[in-house]
Amino acid sequence: MLRIINVVGARPNFIKIAPILNEMARHTDEITPILVNTGQHYDREMVDFFFQDLDIPAPNLNLGVGSGTHAAQTAKVMTAFERVCDDLVPDLILVVGDVNSTLACSLVATKLGIKVAHVESGLRSFDRTMPEEINREVTDLLSDFLFTTSGEAEGNLLKMGIPREKIHFVGNVMIDSLNGHLSQARNRPVLKKLKLDDEEFVLLTLHRPSNVDNSMVLKGLLNVFEQIQHRIKIVFPAHPRTVKNIEKFKLTKKLKSLENLQIISPQGYLDFLSLVDKSKLVLTDSGGLQEETTVLGVPCLTLRSNTERPVTITVGTNILVGLDMDRILLEANKVLDGNPKVGKVPPLWDGYASKRIVDILLREMKS
Ligand code: UD1
Ligand code: UDP
Repeated sequence: MLRIINVVGARPNFIKIAPILNEMARHTDEITPILVNTGQHYDREMVDFFFQDLDIPAPNLNLGVGSGTHAAQTAKVMTAFERVCDDLVPDLILVVGDVNSTLACSLVATKLGIKVAHVESGLRSFDRTMPEEINREVTDLLSDFLFTTSGEAEGNLLKMGIPREKIHFVGNVMIDSLNGHLSQARNRPVLKKLKLDDEEFVLLTLHRPSNVDNSMVLKGLLNVFEQIQHRIKIVFPAHPRTVKNIEKFKLTKKLKSLENLQIISPQGYLDFLSLVDKSKLVLTDSGGLQEETTVLGVPCLTLRSNTERPVTITVGTNILVGLDMDRILLEANKVLDGNPKVGKVPPLWDGYASKRIVDILLREMKS
């Protein structure tokens, strides 16, 4: 039996791990899957809603690390996860994405001589001011199995000197979840609840430190949203980091004055997917959302100057607009005037990435 510890901690991790756990559950004669939640995220809206919506089994262990500075949070995960590995003696740990929990657990496992599988490997923004970029680089360097979502990712890994035989282009687990839940999401009454009509609203999410930890940048973005909401309603499920900073920078009054912008709490997976699917346009700095919009054919303007997911631009519906107010307005108006960017679904984003991952692990770990 292969003992695999699957690590989750933050919101996007839950979406990525769900289809992998489902696939592992089909092989219980060969795999003993263990789920460890580091507790990096902890609010009901950021965690519990996802376990419910995605039918994720309760974690075997919750490390309860919570928030902190990068060093404090990473160190807490490492200390707690080392004990877990000592107790459970896994053959492999599987980590997803690029959050601090991903880095911390990879480092611990590698030092204990435990193999590491990294799902969503090889993504690069080439911008180390972005905390995730450091997490991606280090995790990839340490991993034994590097599962990628695109050809560019493979190229980035080869340039780092990673041997080709460790790299496996498998597709996108985020899209496995999307495909598996879209029809359920489409039946949710969330639009009615929020008094929204199909394609008559823009969906906005924002949580990158580069956008929300600086008061001038955040204020500038609110000014752009003010312009856009004169034309179309904006729905804004706000991340807890962003909510805290809006208060800290005393922008609450400004935000409330935008009558056609509706700020709501973070949504569960199904309601959120329903909102993305029915939106006219998405404005975001999220990684996962650039991919989901590409698959759903929804136009996406990414409020960043770079992206680690260039395939969503070259193949999909994504456009990088940075923080240039005129550019954002120009591109938003194009969509609202009926001239959106049309894209295609990238290769292997077909709903079978998790199956490929588990098949490869079974084949290679046994040999
Ligand atoms: C983290 C990830 C980021 C990912 C995002 C997904 C890192 C470095 N960052 O960013 O890559 O895109 O999750 O959402 O790992 N907070 C709460 N409740 C929660 C969680 C967070 O109130 O359940 C607040 C706390 O004030 C906390 C802040 O949000 O200090 C930031 O949380 P943290 O996990 O450090 O980073 P995120 O911005 O959520
Ligand atoms: N998401 C959600 N509810 C929300 C906001 C996001 O269900 O209110 C989902 C959505 O599927 C998105 C995913 O969470 O792709 C990832 O979230 P986030 O933007 O926090 O992380 P990132 O992908 O940027 O790391």
